[in-house]
Amino acid sequence: MVPIRPWRALAWMAAGALLTLVAMGAVGLLVVEDGLFSASAVTPHGAFLGWATHTTMIHSVARSARDAPAPRRFSQAQVAQGFRLYDRHCAMCHGGPGLPRESWTRGLSPTPPYLLDAARRWTPAQLKVIVADGVKMTAMPAWSLTLGEAETWDLVAFLEALPYLSAADYQAMRRISPYRCSISFGQAGAFCRNTGIPPECDIGRWRYNGGVPGGA
Ligand code: HEC
Repeated sequence: MVPIRPWRALAWMAAGALLTLVAMGAVGLLVVEDGLFSASAVTPHGAFLGWATHTTMIHSVARSARDAPAPRRFSQAQVAQGFRLYDRHCAMCHGGPGLPRESWTRGLSPTPPYLLDAARRWTPAQLKVIVADGVKMTAMPAWSLTLGEAETWDLVAFLEALPYLSAADYQAMRRISPYRCSISFGQAGAFCRNTGIPPECDIGRWRYNGGVPGGA
């Protein structure tokens, strides 16, 4: 009988593992260097890549949000300001209540999701991280590069109110938006009731600015 030499078996196993690693590295390099992986956005990621990237994003956001405390509540003024920012910067990609995304967003991979229930899936701190830092390898921009800290929280305040907004509310807010300029106390009151966001609706903050977009 041939005597068993454990060190020899181990050496073969190590050599096998090393060869596998080298082969995997070579295949990886070929994919990168030879264009074997299609970067086309016409078709979405395959199931595995889609799962891997999205799950990585979820855990990365959760980790970053751990040490970023959120305010305990948001004011009506923050929601209103967040709406203005959302309507200008986000609605084209994410749509809104009764408002479809722009048709060209179908060409983005992944397609931007509707955010009507985002506040039910993420905590305010996590939403702040997503909005401020963006999401790598997707079309989601890092807004901290163009918006201030307070504006980012305003957007989170609006996302928190979004699940309670009907299509009619959204349209009403567009009408009372300062640069669209037709203040209607009735509509604003309905919005406040629907969002249930205290304190009472401070419509006095809405100021007509002559229809100039961007002014407060
Ligand atoms: C050019 C298109 C685009 C614009 C503009 C954009 N986003 Fe996004 N956003 C995306 C894409 C794409 C994703 C999906 C990222 C992913 O799959 O991980 C996303 C994801 C998100 C998410 C996470 C959604 C979820 O449930 O996983 C939030 C929240 C979000 N965006 C908020 C915003 C806000 C707020 C703005 C405006 C300040 C904005 N986005 C502007 C493309 C966009």
